[in-house]
Amino acid sequence: MSSQNPVFIPGPTNIPESIRRACDIPTMDHRSAAFPPLFERAKTGVAEVLKMDAGEVILFPASGTGGWEAAVTNTLSPGDKVLAARHGMFSLKWIDLCQRHGLDVEVVECPWGEGAPVDRFAEILAADTGHQIKAVLVTHNETATGVVSDVAAVRAALDAAGHPALLMVDGVSSIASMDFRMTEWGVDLAVTGSQKGFMLPVGLAIVGVSPKALAAMETAKLSRCFFDFRDMLKLGTPYTPAVGLINGLGASCDMLLAEGLDNVFARHHRIAEGVRAAVAAWGLRPCAVSPALYSDTVTAIVLPEGVDGNALVRHAADAYHVAFGAGLGEVAGKVFRIGHLGMLTDVMALSGIATAEMAMADMGVPVTLGSGVAAAQDYYRTNKAAPVQAAA
Ligand SMILES: Cc1ncc(COP(=O)(O)O)c(C=O)c1O
Repeated sequence: MSSQNPVFIPGPTNIPESIRRACDIPTMDHRSAAFPPLFERAKTGVAEVLKMDAGEVILFPASGTGGWEAAVTNTLSPGDKVLAARHGMFSLKWIDLCQRHGLDVEVVECPWGEGAPVDRFAEILAADTGHQIKAVLVTHNETATGVVSDVAAVRAALDAAGHPALLMVDGVSSIASMDFRMTEWGVDLAVTGSQKGFMLPVGLAIVGVSPKALAAMETAKLSRCFFDFRDMLKLGTPYTPAVGLINGLGASCDMLLAEGLDNVFARHHRIAEGVRAAVAAWGLRPCAVSPALYSDTVTAIVLPEGVDGNALVRHAADAYHVAFGAGLGEVAGKVFRIGHLGMLTDVMALSGIATAEMAMADMGVPVTLGSGVAAAQDYYRTNKAAPVQAAA
């Protein structure tokens, strides 16, 4: 028998069986006629998931971090000024990557638990009448804190200031699970990885590139080789592509689009609401400081003083063979995270909530066994899941 449990880390996610099989194909010559149709199917599917009407989808054999690097190095030049907020481990790491590439980052420090500070961005952009800022970076879903930022509002701030900076969005833990609208929000570079909303193994950096970003690529001077968009656009596959993952990506897009993106987002919202109902029943609170910031893909839960979140996560893995997300950076030890993105049902979520309860009780957190499960059950019973589609 298998003792495999679902994972509750915020990526890599659980993988649907049909997508796992789609990745497992016999070796194919990527220079043969068999490859272009599956490559095109994946890219067209991603464009649809990103709600991207124009531009290019570029796939690298890499992870989300490679996508960050590709976005930055293909469109900016050494010394360029970029605007970004630091409010969690991933916004922090993207800023670090920019600084290591010699970019001049204007960092707005925000408490961890808050989102991108739209009003502050608006002031800075309005004051930048010389248009020194070449790009604004937004981490759509800060996975470390479970906080969603308002990308459309950042676009509105750019437009209100008449500012031409590129809008770069890290959608690594939001895209394909939460509402994302590349064209409508005027996003110039959208970055994600295969192992989150697309429910695949890790191994693809997925980047949506707007026509404006493609124009910036022509003059950008940061050095790049492996991540050069120009080689990708000229040659399609300048080096050996991750054929199995690309086939899996096509299958994943088909699955998401068959469910309907609105239904995918609604499913994530429902499941997240059940998790949040459990958190409230435990007498605990999310790290996100207000409901408008709650992420539908991950909840970071603040633990009582004296309880080590990382020890809790280790204990859940050792005692119950279930993986939760540990706290990172400034909130390391203070929170633990329940990932609820990708392939997940409310029944699976209930098992994670039950396990979290057991682990917390073992670690001395004063939770009543069953309280969170009951609160989530109540929520799921009164907000039933959509009818099951033909089995995948
Ligand atoms: C929001 C966000 N950005 C970037 C990354 C980095 O992606 P990767 O680990 O695929 O390189 C992650 C990883 O969890 C993430 O959650």
